Amino acid sequence: MKLRIAKLPGDGIGPEVVEQAVKAVDAVCRKFGHEVEYTFGYVGACAIDRFGNAYPEETHNICMNSDAVLFGAVGDPKYDNNPTAPVRPEQGLLAIRKQLGLYANLRPVETFKGLVEKSPLKKELVDGADFLCIRELTGGMYFGEKGRKDNGDTAYDTCIYSRNEVERILKLAFEYAMRRRKHLTVVDKANVLESSRLWRQVAKEMEPQYPEVQVDYMFVDNAAMQLIRCPKFFDVMVTENTFGDILTDEASCISGSMGLLASASVGAHTSLFEPIHGSYPQAAGKNIANPVAAILSAAMMFEYAFGLMEEGKAIREAVAASIEAGAVTEDLAGDGKALSTSAVGDWIASRI
Ligand code: IPM
Ligand code: MN
Repeated sequence: MKLRIAKLPGDGIGPEVVEQAVKAVDAVCRKFGHEVEYTFGYVGACAIDRFGNAYPEETHNICMNSDAVLFGAVGDPKYDNNPTAPVRPEQGLLAIRKQLGLYANLRPVETFKGLVEKSPLKKELVDGADFLCIRELTGGMYFGEKGRKDNGDTAYDTCIYSRNEVERILKLAFEYAMRRRKHLTVVDKANVLESSRLWRQVAKEMEPQYPEVQVDYMFVDNAAMQLIRCPKFFDVMVTENTFGDILTDEASCISGSMGLLASASVGAHTSLFEPIHGSYPQAAGKNIANPVAAILSAAMMFEYAFGLMEEGKAIREAVAASIEAGAVTEDLAGDGKALSTSAVGDWIASRI
């Protein structure tokens, strides 16, 4: 198969971790006889510096003409403490999601043998936890009307959802539940928010179409607690954009490090694969960041964008082997035993 991949490393540790994902992709393509072609695009702060736009049209065209997008991270501290900055790196990520119509963000949470000790939660709580968070990605407060009034002294962001937006993400969630353990948890704040009441109404209407799926409804504050009290309760969790952003950062610590959590964003056009950890500017250029989330995002790319399950599995097995062998970066290693980002990438690629 010929794979046309848009490579968008972005900012911070993005380039370092994406480079390791590329090594894994190349190794898999050699092993299984695929041809791969990368096209580089600017996104985030590096795109602002060069084009004054966090998601330039040129990058959008590259994505539209590719089969998958391999994404690093965006963000730069020089924008974080400047509330009046006219353009921000994060706008690049929001624009790419919106323009590619990526309404669903899939964030699987798994535990690795040998890493349960690294979780801040008790071993018996996390051992065997395995669930999929499905976060709505192009609606809600992120994209609703926002602004200032009263001379800038009042600010607002609107959480808005249409039936169509809710239906398509819930349909996906029911379908994933059917392929997994048939247990779906719909997370909302229906006791307070009107938009949540629409989500719950639509989910209840859809339930009869999936009689085998057991559906629970959970308020988001309770879900935040259950995630750490009893992570094994969950199979598929679906929620709106902002709740999903917050809950998936929380869920990432179940596996032991945020550097392990991969994601796929799917929807109307080219799917995008990115680690959930962000740009981690303190580590940028130091060759210390964990590349596993980016490498597992590449595994998701093979599975979700190309339907190449064996290829994805080859990456997953190599990652599991690296963890078992203790070939890990400093977030997971014992004192003095850490490997560099590139050394972990080399280890995994050569194992593949
Ligand atoms: C994420 C990130 C982004 C988000 C930021 C960088 C805009 O935190 O992908 O979870 O809030 O969606
Ligand atoms: Mn986030």
